[in-house]
This record gives sequence, C-alpha cells and structure tokens, in this order.
Amino acid sequence: MTQVLRSVVTGVGGYLPDEIVTNDDLAKIVDTSDEWIIERTGIRRRHRAAADQAVSDLAVEAARKALEAAGRTPQDVDLIIVATTTPDLTFPAAATIVQRKLGCPVGTAFDLQAVCSGFVYALSVADGFVARGRARCALVIGAETMTRLMDWTDRGTCVLFGDGAGAVVLEPQTGEGTTADRGLLGFALRADGTKQDLLYVDGGVSTTGQIGHLRMQGNQVFRHAVVNISEAIFAAAKDAGVEVGEVDWFIPHQANQRILEGVARRVGIDESKVVTTVSEHANTSAASIPLAWWQAVQDGRIKPGQLLLLEAMGGGLTWGACVVRF
Ligand code: ACO
Repeated sequence: MTQVLRSVVTGVGGYLPDEIVTNDDLAKIVDTSDEWIIERTGIRRRHRAAADQAVSDLAVEAARKALEAAGRTPQDVDLIIVATTTPDLTFPAAATIVQRKLGCPVGTAFDLQAVCSGFVYALSVADGFVARGRARCALVIGAETMTRLMDWTDRGTCVLFGDGAGAVVLEPQTGEGTTADRGLLGFALRADGTKQDLLYVDGGVSTTGQIGHLRMQGNQVFRHAVVNISEAIFAAAKDAGVEVGEVDWFIPHQANQRILEGVARRVGIDESKVVTTVSEHANTSAASIPLAWWQAVQDGRIKPGQLLLLEAMGGGLTWGACVVRF
C-alpha cells in the first residue's frame, strides 16, 4: 500500500439568516404564485440576509459551526477560501474579512469566484494545499447574499435565489491510497465561457462600475444542466476510482428540484439517496452544497465514512463534481 496524504472533511457547518421570504410574499411584488414556483422549481421559501449583514457575517457563522464540529478553534486555521459571487467589498477578499472576524492567525486567505460551482472548485483548490502538506486546518466556505443581485421586477429570476452560508473544515490525514480512505477522492471541474449569455450579472467593476442584476435564460440553463452535470459526475467518479452506484449520498447544488432529480435519474442514483433542501432555502449559489451537507449531518442521515457525491453548475457556465469519503 502507498501511503498518501488526504484532505479529510472533519467538520461541517451552516447558517441561514433569520428572515424568511415565502412564495406568497413574492407574489405580492411580481406576477407569480406559490403553485407555479413549487411546480417548476420545488422552492417554498428562501432566507434573506438583514440589511446590516454582509456575506462575511454569514460565512463566519457557518465557519464557527464547522470548526466546533471538527473540534478546532479559529487559532488552528491556516487557510481560508471563501467561494462567493457576492463579496462584502470589491476588495479585500471576503476570506480576509472572515479571518479577521474569527480571529485567526496570519495564514492564507482568498476568495474564489465560480458562481454556483464555487464550492466544488474551492474544495479542489484547498485539496492542493492540504493534501500537499501546505495547510493543516483549512476552512472552505460557500457564502452568498444572492438576494442583493436580484432584479425584483423579473419574476423569472427573483423567485429562485436566497442567502446563506455553509462551511467545511479540511485537515490532512494519511490514507492507504485506496477508495476506502477518508477524504477528497476525485474531481471533475469544467467551464465553457461561450455560454456566458445564458447566466450572468449585467454589471461589474471594470464595465459599468455598478453591481448589476442577475440575468438568466432559465430554460436554456436548464437544458445544459442535466447533460453537463452528468458527464462531470461520471468523470469525477472515474477520477476517484469508484462507481456512481457505490455512492451513499448524492448532494447536488440546490437550484431546482427538477434539475437535481433529472441528474440523479440520468446517472442512476436512487431518489432515496438524494439530499434535497432547495424547498427550504432556494438557490444559495456556492453555499447550497455545504448547507445541504450540514443539514443531512445534523438530521443523522450522513455519517462519517460514507461516500458522498457533490455536483454543481453555475454562471460561466461553470460546472463540476467531487467524490468524497466523509
Ligand atoms: N411565475 C410565473 N410565471 C413565470 C415565472 C414565475 N416566477 N417565471 C417565468 N414565468 C413564465 C415565463 O414568463 C413564461 O411565460 P410565457 O410563456 O408567457 O412567456 C413561462 O413561465 C415559461 O417560461 P420558461 O422560462 O420557459 O419556464 P420554465 O419551465 O423553463 O421554468 C425556470 C423557468 C424555473 C427558471 C426554469 O427554467 C429553471 O429552473 N431553469 C434553471 C435555472 C437555474 O436553475 N438556474 C440556476 C442554475 S445555475 C445557478 O445556480 C446560478
């Protein structure tokens, strides 16, 4: 057996802001209905950050819970990656603000921008530190205030998104180099910049100088989602050396109930293995996978040692998948 260093997830945490916005609340401001939103998306409610809550505040709450679950303190943390599309400021990175608010010592901290795929991308980047012995205790956080990017007159987008944060702690552990090892076992990361027009924000620092609003051709995104994500899932499983059928839990990006069911069907995962939280918090972009993971750990479904499959797709287009033994 070859001994290898693995990046092992030792703690998971999440945070949802207090304010809940129901479909009926949205039906008061755009021409929509609870029935339409549930039927087309599976979404029943979403959380909205308070006016004085920045993305770093959400991230700090999730990180604290993840550190507690891992039995670590902020003093232990030497790497922070925040996957976010909605940072507090243009700079510095939300990750350095999180570092300051948590009281972590000087280390490495930066943001990663891959929209809804950000958490999967960030895990892979963190693996490059942890599994090479360059970080001892990493926080990988997905945190978003997507409600700040909404055009509240566009019923095709404003009903789909919510705010929240999820986090994991990654630590190095020696494994045997087999698929029985705990840790991040395989990845597939993809991007296709030619599909920008399907999903983007119409503003930015070096163009309009304004934040802008999220624009989406929803049915086109839908069309690409199931096919693209399925390919990445098979590629990540191959990279890990496992069969998709061995997976204990499937934790998809929580964008739309119909997309995640379509992907599960296409790759042959039984619906009893799919973790779905989209009805409760809508699409929280980079936060959605760790939030779903956290919820399923809390309710006792996901246990250490189990094989998990994560996948996401978002603006760019970007997409990807990860196989991890928890
Ligand atoms: N309430 C009522 N009617 C609506 C609403 C709404 N909230 N939104 C759109 N409609 C209407 C449209 O105006 C259209 O009406 P028309 O026929 O009179 O023009 C009709 O519904 C059909 O529109 P479609 O866009 O074709 O509807 P579709 O069945 O595709 O559902 C939806 C729209 C829910 C956006 C779907 O396409 C979808 O979920 N796509 C994927 C989007 C997604 O998940 N994006 C995120 C992934 S990437 C990321 O996470 C950033």
